[in-house]
Amino acid sequence: MLRYLCAGESHGKGLVAIVEGMPSNIPIDINRINEDLKKRQQGYGRGNRMKIEKDKVEIITGVRDGKTLGTPLTIVIKNIDYKNWTNVMGIEKLENQQKKILEPRPGHGDLVGALKYNHKDIRNVIERTSARETAIRTAVGSIAKQLLSKFNIQIISHVLSIGEVKYKFTDKDIFKFKNLIEESCLRCIDTNVEKEMIDEINEAKRKGDSLGGSFEVIVKGVPVGLGSYSHFDRKLDGTLAQGIMSLQGIKAVEIGEGIDGITNPGSKFHDEIQYSIEKGYYRNTNMAGGIEAGVSNGENIIIKGHMKPIPTLTQPLKTVNMFTKEEKEAVVERSDNCAVPSASIVAEGICAFIIAKEMVDKFGGDSIEEMMLNYKSYMNYLRER
Ligand SMILES: Cc1cc2nc3c(=O)[nH]c(=O)nc-3n(C[C@H](O)[C@H](O)[C@H](O)COP(=O)(O)O)c2cc1C
Repeated sequence: MLRYLCAGESHGKGLVAIVEGMPSNIPIDINRINEDLKKRQQGYGRGNRMKIEKDKVEIITGVRDGKTLGTPLTIVIKNIDYKNWTNVMGIEKLENQQKKILEPRPGHGDLVGALKYNHKDIRNVIERTSARETAIRTAVGSIAKQLLSKFNIQIISHVLSIGEVKYKFTDKDIFKFKNLIEESCLRCIDTNVEKEMIDEINEAKRKGDSLGGSFEVIVKGVPVGLGSYSHFDRKLDGTLAQGIMSLQGIKAVEIGEGIDGITNPGSKFHDEIQYSIEKGYYRNTNMAGGIEAGVSNGENIIIKGHMKPIPTLTQPLKTVNMFTKEEKEAVVERSDNCAVPSASIVAEGICAFIIAKEMVDKFGGDSIEEMMLNYKSYMNYLRER
């Protein structure tokens, strides 16, 4: 079973993950991980923190001579900014206690975290609720992508909306737009829409406000049969939705045509089944987003994530001081005012890990060679059905 644990505070020494269950002999290119980390840090609307951190991953265990060993991988991303935060985030008892943060931000984890864990200083909550944690999840996802690339499984993401500016993507092959997406500062395919989105972000910034939006992740090359209908917690749409929903700020997830699609009658919603000797079973449409009954059906897996506006506002909302109980303005922590493009990169990594886990579950394998043999034999079996 492929699994991982991660840890780390936003302004602490760094972020760390242990990934267990990766088959041996998978080539690991550290540059590819760092590229994804860089993409996560980009995007119009991000705050000053991203100018300080230049995330780079260090692999401490589990890789030798450029390949996985089949043993746990330990990966670390150091927080460059930690050197400026030792008097706040030091491990030893702090000599000069900083002023406590007592005014929780509506929409963030500040109040619930302080109540749940009995913290008298909201700093103790912010440090882990912060989306800085998504850097390590992106790195883990990037490692998963390297496993998936052995099976020709590709992942891409793009932004569909920022605030009220929306864009409907209708072309069947998103992958031919890869360069456009990677060149766009908002991961938006349409340059005119991108300009409108930038204006929207600038306007929000000017008002001390923030914005959310939507993105889409598409996974190509997933074989039929990942996930299972045999038990609720094995359904692929369920595990993917949980993964995307666990991403900070995400408030809704759709698979395939999701919300837009459900107003159609069944005759216009469901993807008719076709067969040819070259392709096997296939569909001309993909309203289902590549998953039926919690099982991948061989078409592209399509997931949309909808992100709420960032909670930290430079024109803060009202809150209550947790010590005096007086009405106050919420704390203003250094912040992004829109992070939808970054969220889409993290979501790519989340999906990659879940699909990689399913691949390892189905095709087993202590080594990539063993996994590949099982995969090929299964693909041959599918061709004969
Ligand atoms: C990539 C990314 C960057 C984010 N940056 C910020 C930020 O700078 N300031 C902020 O208040 N929230 C930011 N958020 C959102 C909060 O982390 C999130 O709203 C908060 O943890 C509460 O969780 P919830 O929105 O899922 O309920 C970001 C989210 C993501 C995915």
